[in-house]
Amino acid sequence: MRMRKKRHGSERLLALSSLLCPIPSETDEKRRLEPSIVFGNDRPLVVEVGCGKGDFIARLSKERPERNYIALERISDVAVVAVEKYARSRGLGDMAPNGGWLAPDGTLYKNGAVWEIPAELRGNVRFAVADANGFLTLLADDTLDAVIANFSDPWPGKGTDRRKRLTSPAFLENYRRVLKPDGLFSFKTDNDELFDYTAEILPENGFTIRYITRDLHASDRAADNIVTEYERNFTERGIPIKMLEASPVGK
Ligand SMILES: C[S@@+](CC[C@H](N)C(=O)[O-])C[C@H]1O[C@@H](n2cnc3c(N)ncnc32)[C@H](O)[C@@H]1O
Repeated sequence: MRMRKKRHGSERLLALSSLLCPIPSETDEKRRLEPSIVFGNDRPLVVEVGCGKGDFIARLSKERPERNYIALERISDVAVVAVEKYARSRGLGDMAPNGGWLAPDGTLYKNGAVWEIPAELRGNVRFAVADANGFLTLLADDTLDAVIANFSDPWPGKGTDRRKRLTSPAFLENYRRVLKPDGLFSFKTDNDELFDYTAEILPENGFTIRYITRDLHASDRAADNIVTEYERNFTERGIPIKMLEASPVGK
């Protein structure tokens, strides 16, 4: 995703850093993330990889409040948009007209100040500015109810770039490990080539496909579908949206 450099992007992220997932330090021997400590409860956990500007996670987390969510985005200037969108959607204030974050009680958090958001107001989403594969190594086996990848970059061609695809074997191996035996991998794309590649490679990497459609908006899932930023754009251009769900086998 191409983005113009955000003004004060990292300072803006700092103001809302209570909504970021704490990442265990590299010197930490165990290097394990404990979701029950992060969220203060044991609800089922879902990870979205490559959340972009965060429309999808803001809506899904509100519609399905019985679960916790971690949204991963490796570009911080993109992640800051997602975090601010989520904060706004939860009534946690807005950007102040002259810069900084304005909390609902009128306090202005400016120039890198951190707002220690009370735990009970943080809701059920935490964000991480991180590469998906690196981040998932922090989770124990059989932790997740779902992994969601929407409109991930297609990385066309046959070269080494394919390894960067969020459905390439190294990523699938990680998803398989962290998913519970009855967990679900969910994937949407506009791109035929990436979709065919993913549908072919999933069964070769320990997944079975449970649902597949080449026209999501005309399918029986259309009513429940939450449209992402990229999806809106492709749909406006008349491109059918492909979607599949798969679960691990033999776990
Ligand atoms: C094409 S955008 C789609 C964004 C959003 N999911 C949507 O549907 O509108 C893909 C996003 O995934 C992020 N991304 C790509 N590879 C990633 C990785 N390995 N870890 C985390 N984020 C990644 C990109 O930075 C980009 O913001």
